[in-house]
Amino acid sequence: MSSQTQTCNPTIAKHDQFMTINFGRYPIVMERGQGVRLWDDTGKQYLDMFSGFGAGILGHCHPDLVQAVTEQANKLWHVGNLLHTKPQTDLAEAISKHGFDGRSFFCHTGADANEAALKLARLYGQANPSASGKGRYKVISATKSFHGRSFGTMPATGQEKVRQGFGPMLPGYTNVPFNDLAAIEAAIDEETVAVIVEPIQGEGGVNMPADDYLPNLRALCDKHDMLLICDEVWTGCGRTGKYFAHQHWGITPDMMTLAKGVGGGLAVGVMCAHERVAKHFDYRTLGTVVHATTLGGNCLAMAVAAKVFEVIERDNLTDHANAMNKHIVDRLSKLKNAGITDIRGKGLFIGVELDIASSDTWYSNVSEVVNKCLDRGVLLNGTQNNVLRIAPPLCITEAELDEGLDVLQDVLLNQ
Ligand SMILES: Cc1ncc(COP(=O)(O)O)c(C=O)c1O
Repeated sequence: MSSQTQTCNPTIAKHDQFMTINFGRYPIVMERGQGVRLWDDTGKQYLDMFSGFGAGILGHCHPDLVQAVTEQANKLWHVGNLLHTKPQTDLAEAISKHGFDGRSFFCHTGADANEAALKLARLYGQANPSASGKGRYKVISATKSFHGRSFGTMPATGQEKVRQGFGPMLPGYTNVPFNDLAAIEAAIDEETVAVIVEPIQGEGGVNMPADDYLPNLRALCDKHDMLLICDEVWTGCGRTGKYFAHQHWGITPDMMTLAKGVGGGLAVGVMCAHERVAKHFDYRTLGTVVHATTLGGNCLAMAVAAKVFEVIERDNLTDHANAMNKHIVDRLSKLKNAGITDIRGKGLFIGVELDIASSDTWYSNVSEVVNKCLDRGVLLNGTQNNVLRIAPPLCITEAELDEGLDVLQDVLLNQ
């Protein structure tokens, strides 16, 4: 997978000489994309079943997004957040319309969005102290969660490998098992102010909550006046067959964070909070700017993100994601002797757990399956050694899916 081999490809050679080698990259240089297709610099074609970790939610160079960014590029790029611009307000309105009655703050990444949520939670906890008058700042999150790699989000991310070498961590974070309400209850103390949770864990293996987990968590947060932050960086924007995954369980969070798909491939992060929480960022009462980022809400990114929501609604891509989920699950659940032990997820966010320990299957790690599919022109992803992730652009057709599933089926059964 690593490209630090002898290469005569000039792009890879430049990467190896001039870039930090913080990713293990495939020795492939992608040049062009259209819809669910990609082409590398040798002309080889690929079917994208992973959307660049979910960011390409409408595929590559979607004509409506190209038009939106082109029109905006010819009009206005960036003015700074001391002035108003229409694309920001269009996006904020769309998030509120499809989500809940909240106020949006714009930034660039998922880590950024979660940083904003965690900072806002601290302000809320100062303004709403414990019964004994202590300001509240502690945050509970789940093991196997992923919330980012910044200093504020690393300790929330419940995976030790992400923190390795970067200690000491910020204090005030506790990780408890996902789906375990009693563990959350046991971790609460008088300084706890928030719980941050992915409605469906992404990097942790597309892990589903029990049906009553999020409703009970909502009730627990209400009981202790704790804020429920839903990290919808992976699961937002129609990915799971609803605009936002928390809607599957009929709850409303106090804050929701978005990134990846919301920008359709551009860098957009969003933190959306209810007024009772958002007011703690309010410049008018605080008399000073308490949180900001210079390029957050820049016109190009906002115009594209607003268009993402328009296209999802116009093309009814949430229903389409649900129909395609059924198709994928129907096909994969009929596969015998492929080593599949579980198929989970919602919409076009699917985890296929593989039995990597079995002597009946040829593979011993999901990456071997992913690599074989890639050789045959299908991009998939593996996480946690044994979970294959299928997360194509929401506009993928059944015929295109079948093309990818044919390859996957053949790889699983025959290498
Ligand atoms: C659920 C979740 N939250 C936050 C992040 C961090 O997002 P970013 O990589 O844009 O900082 C990720 C990244 O994978 C994620 O999956």
